[in-house]
This record gives sequence, structure tokens and C-alpha cells, in this order.
Amino acid sequence: MARISVFGIGYVGVVSAACLAKDGHQVIAVDVDPGKIKSINDGLSPIVENGLDELIAEVVAAGKLTATDDVQFAVDNSDASFVAVGTPSAPDGSVGLKYVEAVCENIGRALAAKDGDHSVIIRSTIVPGSMEGTCIPVLERTSGKTAGKDFGVGYYPEFLRESTAIEDYYDPGLIVFGAMDDFTTKVLTELNQDLGCKIHVVDLRTAEMVKYTSNTWRAVKVTFANEIGNIAKASGLDGQTVMEILCSDDKVNISSYFMRPGFAFGGSCLPKDVRALRHLASTLDTPAHMLNAVLEANESQIKRAETMVLASGAKKVGFVGISFKPGTDDLRESPLAELAARLIKQGVQVEIYDPFVFEAYANENSTAGRGNDVIPDLKDRMVETLDALIDESGAVLVGNFYKNTVDTLEKAAEKLPVFDLTRMSRTRVTGGNYEGICW
Ligand SMILES: NC(=O)c1ccc[n+]([C@@H]2O[C@H](COP(=O)([O-])OP(=O)(O)OC[C@H]3O[C@@H](n4cnc5c(N)ncnc54)[C@H](O)[C@@H]3O)[C@@H](O)[C@H]2O)c1
Repeated sequence: MARISVFGIGYVGVVSAACLAKDGHQVIAVDVDPGKIKSINDGLSPIVENGLDELIAEVVAAGKLTATDDVQFAVDNSDASFVAVGTPSAPDGSVGLKYVEAVCENIGRALAAKDGDHSVIIRSTIVPGSMEGTCIPVLERTSGKTAGKDFGVGYYPEFLRESTAIEDYYDPGLIVFGAMDDFTTKVLTELNQDLGCKIHVVDLRTAEMVKYTSNTWRAVKVTFANEIGNIAKASGLDGQTVMEILCSDDKVNISSYFMRPGFAFGGSCLPKDVRALRHLASTLDTPAHMLNAVLEANESQIKRAETMVLASGAKKVGFVGISFKPGTDDLRESPLAELAARLIKQGVQVEIYDPFVFEAYANENSTAGRGNDVIPDLKDRMVETLDALIDESGAVLVGNFYKNTVDTLEKAAEKLPVFDLTRMSRTRVTGGNYEGICW
């Protein structure tokens, strides 16, 4: 069993302190608020949260949880310190780190006087780079020690929801942490190993980003549901029924499908249908901020790819894929065709390898090239093989993912710039000749 100190007895801190104590760990809660310290030591919950009164009473009576304002005592008598103080918005909207900084200073000073292993694990929500830019420098300066060597460091975000916090603690949807050292990894792995949820061990910044991604996704879902509800109501419909039916599809709608960063959406349905719903909303005098933003954001993803290619100075670009997605020759509102057309207009020579579109032309299908209204000489730009495309190009743009092209593209990346909008290989990230659009 571990010995843990928890700094900040707010919603996150008190729930984790109580649950850790319930799991048999020895927990010291630390706060600057004397009222909260007294409350814990009296066996009372300092906040209103389902099931917490009973839990605090139980673990305090069992001697598993105590509270103090004595930082040195808490650090000396624990193997790891969790930091769960508030990070309210600063006036400019940035993350407010003053409480986290203050706690890191206090812990750092206590670490200076402590021998033996200790890990400082931040649980507060902080933007990517805060660990490296703020927490670690403060800890090192005040302790006179080196992070990752003389003491451990981790970032371990919390995802609980108030009102179901204890339930969420024992049945989390997600566990992720970043750690600088093996000691911290071991502490956090052991604390979580019985929770029956995959543990994602990543670098500090990725863990910081996952927390914001999670909360922003929740906010986006609420806003989307509200916007659909408003349009449904204005159409004389029950918005909740509409969303319940949508959510019953966990194969596509409520799944990881369409949740993979990459290039813009296109095709014969999504762009026109978002436009039509937006138009309907405007005729019903119902604001549709998110629908508007969706189309704008999609357009700017095409622009992003365009800028990426133009900034490289490449004059001859070979496109791998031109249809709106792999496995079809459909070019209707293909963002790749739009991107190619823009580059051509700016003097870039574009040739294209797309086995599906090529086949349609080769078979002289009456529908060959269907939906393309942006590249007049598309047929002449088609190249039969990927090898030929690479031979003739100064750079390659991977727009559609075809499994059998990966090895050839990997080799091409050794000698040519490769712009990847789809991620030809999961292990690749931007570097050298290779640039991924979102990785
Ligand atoms: N509330 C949630 O549902 C929730 C869920 C997940 C993550 N988070 C994140 O967790 C963090 C904490 O949120 P919260 O709602 O629990 O905060 P909170 O405001 O309820 O509690 C913060 C506590 O920290 C204490 N504190 C301030 N300075 C201190 C210091 N120097 N030393 C010791 N204690 C100090 C305060 O007295 C207070 O008791 C935030 O970054 C928040 O974004 C919150």
C-alpha cells in the first residue's frame, strides 16, 4: 500500500483522498483552508457529494485519512504528492497557474529537506507545456534537485464528474498519465491496476492535452445537442427524441469513427447536408453557430494543407488519392480535388495516382471523373502506378490511405518531401522530409 499526500482538498482532492484511503492507502490531505482541515479530521466531508460523508467518516475513523497544513510533515510521510488545487481562468482566458505554482514551491522546499524517493504528481487541469514550463522549473528551483532523477514527476489528469465522483473514481472511462521516471510510473500503475480500465502511459504534454481534449469534447457535445434541439424545436420536432435516436447508433455516430485527425471532410453528403441544415436554421430564424463553424473549420483544413505544400516550395507534387475517400472513384466535393485545383492555380504541377479513379477512366465508364468540377484536365493528370508518380514528382502528398502503398511511400520519404493528410504509418510524426497534417 502506498503513502500519498493530496494537496488541495477541493472536489477532486477530497474525492481522490477518500477513495485512496478506502483502497487501503495511507493518505494525508493538505490544504490552506483551516475549515476544510478541521472538517476532514472531524470525519466530515468539506463538500456535498453523493456518498462522500459516509466514506470520509469511515476512512478517518480507520486512521487512513488525516488532514494538515504542514507541508513538510505531509511530504516526509508520503511517497508521492498529488496536487489538485484549482486552475481558474486568468483574466485573459489563459490557465491560472498561481495555486499550482504556490504548491510546487511549498513541495519543492519540503523536498530539499527530504531523503528518499518522492514523486510530485499534478492532477490539476493545466495546458500542454505547463509541467515543463512552470511546475518542473519551480520544483527544481525550490528543492535544488533535478526532476526525474532526484525526485519523480508525473501528470495524471482527473476526469470525474461532480455528483457521480465516487462512482467515476471506481469506474473511470479513461486513465492516462505522463511520467518522467520509473518510480512515478510504478506508483501510478499500482494505484490504478485494479480499476479494470486500460492505462495509457504517455509523455507529460500528451497527458495534459488529453485532459483539455476530453473537456472540450464534452462541451462540443452539449453545444451540438443544444443546437440540434433548437433547430428541431423550431421545426416542430422533439429535439431530445432526435438526439436519442442519433445516439442509438454506436457503430458510427457514437464511436471513434470520424474521430481521427487528418484532412477535411467532403463527398456527396456531409458538405451539402451541413449547408442545408444551416440554411433551414436560418429560415427558421434559429442561430446555428456550430454548423457555421463546422463549414468554416473544414475550409480552413483545406487551406492548412495548401499552405503546407506551398511553404515547402515544391513545384511538382504527386497526389496519392484524389477521390473524396479511398475505395471509391467519387469526386463530388472531394477536398483533395479542391486542394489540387488550388495548387494548380498557383503554378504547382500536379499529377495523380488514384487506382479507383484511374480504373474508371481506363474502363471508359460513363461516370468516370464524376463529380469533378474543379480540375478540367483531370484525366490527363492521372498516372497508372505509384512508382511512376514518385519518379515524376518533386514531392508527394498522401491524400487517401491505400494499404499497399505504404512501403513504397516510406521509401519515397527517404528522398522526397512527403505531405501526409491521412497518416500512412502510425509511427510517423513530422520530421525530416516528412510532414503530417496533425501529427
Ligand atoms: N471539479 C471537477 O469536477 C474537476 C474534475 C476534473 C478535474 N478538475 C480540475 O482539478 C483541479 C481542482 O479542481 P477542484 O474543483 O477540485 O478545485 P477546488 O477549487 O474545489 O479546490 C481547490 C483546493 O485547493 C486548496 N488550495 C489552494 N491553494 C493551496 C495551497 N497552496 N496548498 C494546499 N491547498 C491549496 C483550496 O483551499 C481548495 O480547497 C482544477 O484544475 C480543475 O480544473 C476538476
